[in-house]
This record gives sequence, structure tokens and C-alpha cells, in this order.
Amino acid sequence: MSLLTARDIHKSFLFKGELSKVLRGINLELKKDDFISIVGSSGCGKSTLLELLSGISLPDSGDILYDDQVITGQTGILGYMPQEDLLFPWLKTIDNILLPIRVQGKDIRVHRQKVLELLPIFGLEAFADYLPWQLSGGLRQRVALARTYMTGSKVLLLDEPLANLDAITRNTLQDWLADIVRKLGLAVILVTHDIDEAIKLSTRIEVMKEGVFLADFAVPDHIDEHEQKLFKESIRALI
Ligand SMILES: Nc1ncnc2c1ncn2[C@@H]1O[C@H](COP(=O)(O)OP(=O)(O)OP(=O)(O)O)[C@@H](O)[C@H]1O
Ligand SMILES: [Mg+2]
Repeated sequence: MSLLTARDIHKSFLFKGELSKVLRGINLELKKDDFISIVGSSGCGKSTLLELLSGISLPDSGDILYDDQVITGQTGILGYMPQEDLLFPWLKTIDNILLPIRVQGKDIRVHRQKVLELLPIFGLEAFADYLPWQLSGGLRQRVALARTYMTGSKVLLLDEPLANLDAITRNTLQDWLADIVRKLGLAVILVTHDIDEAIKLSTRIEVMKEGVFLADFAVPDHIDEHEQKLFKESIRALI
């Protein structure tokens, strides 16, 4: 059964008096244990789609369903990490992570304890009392991911969560993400420009071009270096 469904999503923006069609009939099904990566060139509509799925903006037409309920335009149901990490500069790591709990009006004390237990999984145990500016880029990404996880949603929408990191940090965080997704039983939609990252993490890759999904690829469980190269080339040729 599909956990999250997007049905025939269309979205246009009016810019300098001209209407540009950004999404032109997007259909998507995310099932439990799916990890879908969306790749595509800059400006093709990836972030726009995630914003619509998260509910922070509305499509011109089409529906978004979660557990068979229409959730179009409803925020706070899915865990959404926007392209910019948007940590509150005046909040410590722990309080940034607790933000969804505050927003949901849940018991902070109970959840503070939960976050403290969670910090080691996120590699953040030494940084609970740091403010965002005292953290490196990789640490900030982890705080933003932990906060996204605290929404309690089984679905994460991650918009380039590992962009702008050095190769080693990026690799470490990819392993960590794969691990956490498996341990916590999450379903993910990940936007990335890194095809190797998409191959490493996903069960399926959707190639977006000019607001439509051109093709999708099931990612084999085991893939050797040669197959990976061919796979990557065939995806890149479409972008
Ligand atoms: N609020 C807006 N008003 C007008 N145009 C917009 C708005 N938001 C996005 N666009 C336009 O929609 C198109 C798609 O933008 P989007 O941010 O979805 O691209 P993207 O695929 O995420 O790109 P990138 O890989 O660079 O992040 C772009 O041409 C962008 O300029
Ligand atoms: Mg984007």
C-alpha cells in the first residue's frame, strides 16, 4: 500500500508577468521502506515538488495523499527538511531539535529525555548545548535531520541534506542516514545532485526534467563498480 501518493500535480509561478509551468503532471507513490531519490538539473522543479508534498505551498491542481487521506496544503504531517537548514540561531542544538515537539504542543520534558537518548545516534552528544554558529556544516545538517526526524513522521522529505559537505563528511553522513532509516523504519524522498549518493542510498531513482518525471530506475541491492558506472551514465544521459 502506498504511504504517500502524489496525483497529477501541476504548479505554475507568475514571474514578471509571465506564467511559467514548473511542475507538469507529477505522479509519485512512496511505499513503506521505499527510499526514492529525485535527480535532475537545477531549476527543474525538485524543491517545488518537496514544498508541495510538505504542505507549505499549494499545487494548482492535483492531490497529495498520506495513508489514503488527502493532505494537500497541510503542514506538520511529513518530516520536511528544506534546502536551507533553517536552524534558529538563538536556540541550542537540543532546543532546535525539540522545535517540532513545541509546535505540536507535546510534553517537552518527556521528549527532551528522548532527544538526549537520540543524540548519540546522530553523533551529536557532545554538542547539545551549542548554538548553530558554533557548529560545522556537517553538524548543522545532522541537527536539521534530527529535528526533521522529531516530527515523528514515518516519511522524510529531504532536500539536498548533504550538499556542500566535504567528501568524507558526506560519506559518513550517507552511511549514518542509511543506518538510521533502516533502524527507525522510515520511508524517504531525497533530492540530490549526486548520482552516486542516489545509487548508494535509494531503492528507486526518479529523473526529473522540466517538471516531469522522465524515467525511473529501480536500484539493485548489490551493484559492482562496472554496473554502477553504466547505471550512472544512463541516468546522467537523461538529465
Ligand atoms: N516562488 C517562486 N516564484 C517564482 N518562481 C519560482 C518560485 N519558486 C521556484 N520558482 C521557479 O521554479 C523553477 C523550479 O525551482 P526549484 O527550486 O523547484 O528548482 P530545483 O529543481 O529545486 O533546483 P535546484 O537544483 O537548483 O535546487 C525555477 O525556475 C525557479 O526559478
Ligand atoms: Mg532545489
